[in-house]
Amino acid sequence: MLRQPLPGNIDNAFAAEICAGLTRTGQKELPSKYLYDEVGSALFEVISVLPEYGLTRADVRLLRRHAPDIVSRLPLPVIVAELGTGSGKKTRWLLEALARRRPACYCPIEISRSALAMCRRELGDIEAISIVGYEGEYLEGLARVAARRREGEHLLVLFLGSTIGNFDRRAAVQFLREVRQILRTGDSLLLGTDLEKPVARLLAAYDDPLGITAAFNLNLLSRINRELDADFLLPHFRHLARYNSAARSVEMHLRSTCRQTVTLRAAGLTLTLHEDETIWTESCHKYAPGEVPRIAANAGFSCEAQWLDREWPFAENLLIAT
Ligand SMILES: C[S@@+](CC[C@H](N)C(=O)[O-])C[C@H]1O[C@@H](n2cnc3c(N)ncnc32)[C@H](O)[C@@H]1O
Repeated sequence: MLRQPLPGNIDNAFAAEICAGLTRTGQKELPSKYLYDEVGSALFEVISVLPEYGLTRADVRLLRRHAPDIVSRLPLPVIVAELGTGSGKKTRWLLEALARRRPACYCPIEISRSALAMCRRELGDIEAISIVGYEGEYLEGLARVAARRREGEHLLVLFLGSTIGNFDRRAAVQFLREVRQILRTGDSLLLGTDLEKPVARLLAAYDDPLGITAAFNLNLLSRINRELDADFLLPHFRHLARYNSAARSVEMHLRSTCRQTVTLRAAGLTLTLHEDETIWTESCHKYAPGEVPRIAANAGFSCEAQWLDREWPFAENLLIAT
């Protein structure tokens, strides 16, 4: 493995995290947040409507059915912050229910510039909802939203679609604690969690026959080629989805089909991958419904209500900061 100093014109955080993941001893790993550039965010939108990927439809069903009930439990006035909105399509149900009660400010927080732009386009027409977007990391954005709240205004944080599942269980609790530290007692967090279900059903959701999830995963290598002047040859990699039963998580990997050497010129890195070696790109942890209130309590929240979808087991959890 060769390392050289970085040229001055590249995104240092991106280059540093990519290099750190690819030079790890043992399992190579890339942060899943980098799956979402413009192409990745567009592909995720397609994934969310695939017949095999029931997660988004379950989330939508719950929000559509229960938005008035969810909103009726919130202290008003409220400012809404959403972590990792994607296109924000399903948030419409909540914002419309909220707008019927009182005007509010909605603050989408997104690492992907193109997802943030989609979200503004998608939700910009809701009367009585003003939008202030933040491009950046979850906690940094949330701290900025918390800093702009007015006297007496409550904060509602949305973390939908089971994106919490991208953290391992311990990191998820740590992340929720960090969210809690930014909140005040009585603030709310609406947390979507995908639930355990038969493995074959889960694997089909992360390895669809059209190959959209494979393209979404492989795009991370394309992105590194584009942004770090690298020479990953995509035909030499295969998308792999596997279930880790100990972690209760679907893992996405990119498997090298041969021994190969890759250079990331702008990051000054050359590495060798062995045949069948994988790069781990994403984890999607699955939950039991009773697990969420326990995790919430560990992180400084109480679970005020939980709504379940039976067609595609999924839970929407309303947590209150204690
Ligand atoms: C799995 S998608 C979910 C999108 C949407 N919430 C949904 O449920 O359909 C995760 C979203 O979070 C964003 N994201 C991932 N990591 C992030 C981070 N560290 N900070 C801010 N946004 C992030 C991605 O760009 C992506 O749009």
